[in-house]
Amino acid sequence: MSLRIKIAKDYAEMSKLAADLIIDLLNKKPTAVLGLATGSTPLGLYEELVRRHRAGHDFSQVTTFNLDEYYNLDHEHPASYHHYMHEHLFQYLNIPSDHTNIPDGATSDPAEECRSYEAKIAAAGGIDLQILGIGINGHIGFNEPGTPFGSTTSLVNLAPATIEANSRFFERKDDVPQQALSMGIRSIMNCRGIILLANGESKANAIAAAVEGPVTEELPASVLQLHPDCTLILDRKAAAKLTHSRC
Ligand code: PGA
Repeated sequence: MSLRIKIAKDYAEMSKLAADLIIDLLNKKPTAVLGLATGSTPLGLYEELVRRHRAGHDFSQVTTFNLDEYYNLDHEHPASYHHYMHEHLFQYLNIPSDHTNIPDGATSDPAEECRSYEAKIAAAGGIDLQILGIGINGHIGFNEPGTPFGSTTSLVNLAPATIEANSRFFERKDDVPQQALSMGIRSIMNCRGIILLANGESKANAIAAAVEGPVTEELPASVLQLHPDCTLILDRKAAAKLTHSRC
């Protein structure tokens, strides 16, 4: 198995370890293409990257691609991932705005938007390092259980568990979009490096299944067992159900 697993003592250490790996890459390759994620998990990582920028790290040659965006939600909506990325990262770093890419969930032509998103990733030379979170059902991006491993960026349906989990960002559960544009499993597997972050006990079952269970489309993150350069950075709670001792 080629997964590397790092267990951090807590969320802050998990976030710092991830920032270290990103900064190491950018020191070697200032023009690196980063794949970014949203949700609660990477917030500490983004705070850490902002700190590194304030301490002098230059992000001006970086290009970014986000994993996903809700379908049919205005970019200005406080729960949109456009808004999240501006609020938590982009407003603080010196990445030129035309180097930041997020699927356009407000598009009138989702199929064309998905095609052009894949083409933009290819034109940028592919993604060097993709950051992932994991859903309690094992999803990566918005690739819910059952998503074919061959999928590329597409319009996808959110699983009930995801709608429930994400309702905390909306006034009412009924306001959560039922669909999203998401990079697919193949789009993720094409990234040259991957870091998956997970913290908290709610992720422990998904992590144990992804790492030690069978590789199956029913548990999308299990596909990462087949990736040649994937690192999981976990806090102790998310790692608690792994049966083999790891460091
Ligand atoms: P979270 O979401 O970081 O908000 O837990 C992760 C995910 O659903 O992929």
